[in-house]
Amino acid sequence: MLTNSQMRERDLKYIWHPCSQMKDYETLPFIPIASGKGAYLTDFDGNRYLDAISSWWVNLFGHSNPYINEKIKEQLETLEHVIFAGFTHESGIRLAERLIALTPENLQKVFFADNGSSAIEIALKMSFQYYKNQGEVRDVFISLENSYHGETMGALAIGDVALYKEIYGEILIKTVQAKSPSIIDEDSAISHMEELFKKHKHKISAVVIEPLVQCAGSMAMYDATYIKRLRVLCDEYGVFLIADEIAVGFGRTGTMFACEQADVSADFLCLSKGITGGYLPLSCVLTTDEVYGAFYCDYSEGKSFLDSHSYTGNALACAAANATLDIFENENIIEKNKKLIKSLSSLTQKFKTLPNVKEVRQRGMIVAIELQGYKSEKRIGLEIYKYALSHEVLLRPLGNVVYFMPPYIISDEELEKMIDVAYKAIKSLEY
Ligand SMILES: Cc1ncc(COP(=O)(O)O)c(C=O)c1O
Repeated sequence: MLTNSQMRERDLKYIWHPCSQMKDYETLPFIPIASGKGAYLTDFDGNRYLDAISSWWVNLFGHSNPYINEKIKEQLETLEHVIFAGFTHESGIRLAERLIALTPENLQKVFFADNGSSAIEIALKMSFQYYKNQGEVRDVFISLENSYHGETMGALAIGDVALYKEIYGEILIKTVQAKSPSIIDEDSAISHMEELFKKHKHKISAVVIEPLVQCAGSMAMYDATYIKRLRVLCDEYGVFLIADEIAVGFGRTGTMFACEQADVSADFLCLSKGITGGYLPLSCVLTTDEVYGAFYCDYSEGKSFLDSHSYTGNALACAAANATLDIFENENIIEKNKKLIKSLSSLTQKFKTLPNVKEVRQRGMIVAIELQGYKSEKRIGLEIYKYALSHEVLLRPLGNVVYFMPPYIISDEELEKMIDVAYKAIKSLEY
């Protein structure tokens, strides 16, 4: 039987892990996972961890979900993958049909990729080229302060989390950040956006937002009314709106897509993460017939959208996505989650009484508990991470913000355990 320490030794010999200072692993070893079932992960020494963060916000219906497993196996028997340029397959077609049916009417075309950052790159490139194809160069992208859109260069450039972005400053495309309604009041945020629209006028390719929750930006939240007002402003000034629902899509904020709460449709909708239930890498950008039309012409005109990725529209990933949508439909998940959302709300009220808690905020299946009173050099999040792991729960605070983003199959008992461990962790750090 292999052990955690054997696996760590082999891993460290060759693997460089993401989002990590590798030296940290000398004092806080990473955890080799042997298996996953439902909301739990199990390591090689037999310890269990309740996955309260859905493995980086991707897992919706539990690890090793029998239905998704079965559907991937079925796909495996017929086609694992095929080049998506010049070829297609049924799972991809079916998925596109279903995504179009689930989203607002103006979105009529689906462009597949294989990770969230790539979907963002595609939306940026498409909006830029839309104008270029008509002889206009619009080289300004606007995003919100405190936003996060991924790690590839374009996605980093429109993001605003200094921790990831600052070091690459010199080599990133220039973008403009508007005041975020998660930081200042909505009226001021909208006024600031309008100022930027006036200032950059016909140079703006698009505005990019994370609707309702800036997840990597410490789970900062804002109201749907801002999105509604932003859409009106975009229409008034003729600016494209890109909705990055990579983290908040597929039920995370209580509705299938966050923009539904504002009754708004974007010109580009970026989806990934939960799309495959957390199984396989897949992303896509939905856009309008109008955008599509600006690229549709004889090849010789040079207006084609030539973006591509080897694993674009991977058949296994599409099968996982179709299985995920089956579960949403067959089990009426959005309705069913309402009970979970209520439980999350009532069980997390008690955090508000702790002196080191500044705020408890929630949007659907996301609850964030912001701590206060710690100096930034004290890695308080790391303390909570360690405490939770030693009590069988995987939490991964963002700085001083502890959050829950559990899979939708979490049981009442597991929910209570997750919250209880976080509560005790935070209480143990009272000053
Ligand atoms: C809102 C948002 N956009 C884009 C991304 C990037 O997705 P990926 O990590 O798949 O590249 C993320 C990832 O966390 C995200 O939260």
